[in-house]
Amino acid sequence: MVRFPSDFIWGVACASYQCEGGWDADGKGPSIWDDFCHRFGGSPVKNNDNGDIACDSYHRYPEDIALMKRLNIQAYRFSISWARVMPDGDGPLNEAGLDYYDDLVDRLLANGIEPMITLYHWDLPSALQYRGGWLNREMVDIFARYAEVIAKRFKGRVKKYMTINEPQCVALGYYSEGAAPGWRCPEEDVARLFHILALSHSAAQRAIKAVDPEALVGLVPCGKLCCPVEDTPEGRQSAYRATFEMSKEPWRWAFNTNIILDSVILRRYDDSAPAPVRKFAATVPQGDWEAMEAPDFIGINLYNGDMVDAEGRPAALHRGFPRTALKWPVTPEVIHFGPMHLHRRYGLPIMITENGLSCNDIIFRDGKVHDPKRIDFLHRYLTELSKAIAEGVPVMGYLQWSFLDNFEWSSGYDERFGIVYVDYPTLRRIPKDSAAWYARVIATNGDCLNED
Ligand code: NOJ
Repeated sequence: MVRFPSDFIWGVACASYQCEGGWDADGKGPSIWDDFCHRFGGSPVKNNDNGDIACDSYHRYPEDIALMKRLNIQAYRFSISWARVMPDGDGPLNEAGLDYYDDLVDRLLANGIEPMITLYHWDLPSALQYRGGWLNREMVDIFARYAEVIAKRFKGRVKKYMTINEPQCVALGYYSEGAAPGWRCPEEDVARLFHILALSHSAAQRAIKAVDPEALVGLVPCGKLCCPVEDTPEGRQSAYRATFEMSKEPWRWAFNTNIILDSVILRRYDDSAPAPVRKFAATVPQGDWEAMEAPDFIGINLYNGDMVDAEGRPAALHRGFPRTALKWPVTPEVIHFGPMHLHRRYGLPIMITENGLSCNDIIFRDGKVHDPKRIDFLHRYLTELSKAIAEGVPVMGYLQWSFLDNFEWSSGYDERFGIVYVDYPTLRRIPKDSAAWYARVIATNGDCLNED
């Protein structure tokens, strides 16, 4: 029986660079994703795509919010483009940029939709990258000042903040060319970067709480979450252990959820931390661990998990295993076991801050966008999520990724995650079949998932 708590929050999520456009409108400064996509000699992004216009949400948000309301959406998690509100990241404010978010928040509230703010979803103001980006320890105070500005502006209107989206993918931009800023740093520097991100989260959380003690603050990691091939007590235990066991292979450790959560919540590294992390750990200045702040909730972006056998070893997926358009395996169990593992290790409430399916959706001859695969995917994942809740995991809500099709980073616009189709040449929005389906899930608080 699928059941969700009566105060469960059903929402959608997106991020500034992926949907706003208006990349240089009304005094906005450049961000590292603007630079990455405008790079001399061509963008490293598929099809030379960029976020200059994206879904044009910067101009079309009233229409989008009206559509959210029609679809029963209860919460919208969006990120603030730091360079829109502080063009240099650490200097004068751009009132026009703040006005945009003011109106966005007011309209959401007027339509009964809870605004949830992510402070940092990867679009660092370029001026801060020139100062070393997240490798510069000054970022801790700079990020806290930015958090304070935002908290002051939205106090009383916004009750949930998320500091940093996927620190693991922030780090990716410092050792791979597939994400901004596209730097290539040694592993030990990346270990330092995670530490600076952990301190920055903590300082931002303190800044928000100083302004608004009522606000709830979350941190949103991603990374390895293991599921037992066979759901036995031993299988679960091995999957739990494998989830937090840090890989010794170069760079693989940077995709553990605990590379950031252990720092901010447990104030230490796991015993399995690999050599570059241990080497860095020996240099951590006194007082740093005491400065760490556990978030009020863990936001988790969940798409797929790693299947493991009874010994916790990776289990091979059979030939023809179901996959999304991005070739990610479809493993609904991850949204059952992932939140369980995180809650067991850290004891905090969980919010599913992202989950969804990429498809190469098309407009059919009837003018509609039929996406049965997305409906099937969401149905399976939500059913599994209800199992975690039934087993006692406090899950605050579920935010589907994404409301609109949008700019999927290095994959450009080929991947469509939305429940609403965006016809990019005209920017027209066409709700997909999954939009009506999700509206009904929300209207019945998930009860309709029991129907077939
Ligand atoms: C996680 C990221 O936060 C989001 O920006 C991205 O579009 C989705 N995953 C899908 O890849």
